[in-house]
Amino acid sequence: MKPNVLVYMRVDSRVVKELEKDYEVTIFQNHEYLGDPHFDDALQKADGIIGLALKVTKELLDKAPHLKIVSNVSVGYDNLDVDELSNRGIMATNTPGVLNDTTADAIFGLMLATARRIPELDLFVKSGKWDISLQPNQYGVDVHHKTLGIIGMGNIGCAIAKRAHLGFGMTILYHNRTRNEEAETLYEATYCELDTLLQQSDFVCLMVPATKETEKMIGTNEFKKMKSSAIFINGSRGKNVDEEALYKALVNSDILAAGIDVFTQEPTSPTNPLLKLKNIVTLPHIGSSTTECEFNMSKLAALNLKKGLNGETPPNLLTKKF
Ligand code: DGY
Repeated sequence: MKPNVLVYMRVDSRVVKELEKDYEVTIFQNHEYLGDPHFDDALQKADGIIGLALKVTKELLDKAPHLKIVSNVSVGYDNLDVDELSNRGIMATNTPGVLNDTTADAIFGLMLATARRIPELDLFVKSGKWDISLQPNQYGVDVHHKTLGIIGMGNIGCAIAKRAHLGFGMTILYHNRTRNEEAETLYEATYCELDTLLQQSDFVCLMVPATKETEKMIGTNEFKKMKSSAIFINGSRGKNVDEEALYKALVNSDILAAGIDVFTQEPTSPTNPLLKLKNIVTLPHIGSSTTECEFNMSKLAALNLKKGLNGETPPNLLTKKF
């Protein structure tokens, strides 16, 4: 009998086809399924789970008695209770590395779109309002040669620093748990305390993982420390930012604008007040979402899954080794 694999949300269809050769695959393509008898049945049988952003809690694990591995198709793994998985001897994996450049491109795009007001001006043209030349109150601000503060200088932060420094001549400040020699040597990044970064940066880019320590790490106090001309970018996780404080900072002009790829709740509600503001550019969590990158992430996640189900150590193991 083939082992059972539950596929959750975004896994490339070519990779799913490959998985189907070796496993009994059940696919769930939308968000929440807890309580759905079909989903519970698949959990009951599952030897492996592969997918994006499934909340793996004690409650879910209680329903999956045969589970050996949860393979995330993402580098972030705040959806996983890693301690609980470790305690139960279940492996968990993620997909680092393959998304660094793609995500850095997206974050840079967000910086440019916010600074140069690209979505707003696109709408201006398409709605037929471009009848006289552009007015000064429609101008954006420069990106090149400004100061970029990166909070969280991991692999993706480093890929952003590379683009910013080598391509746009930006000065890089960063704040991180540990010093990043690559960023300091190659991109002349200067390590500084968070407050200094907030006070001195023209662009503040948040790239930390979501943990208990980073929850709402950017709130009212942090926005107040930023320049009133600052642009805030969140490419990490929504819960790292106090969304209400962000709304107030944008409305009260404590900062100039924001570009966010992530929300506290995803998908965000159409009634989220942030969506009404002109000085914010929003994206539906697309950091790694290109055809090529999603394929590579799915392939890496499938490799992790296969190794785990074969009793080998997957290359991107997050849980304790047994
Ligand atoms: C990641 O890989 O963590 C991306 O943000 C997609 O969730």
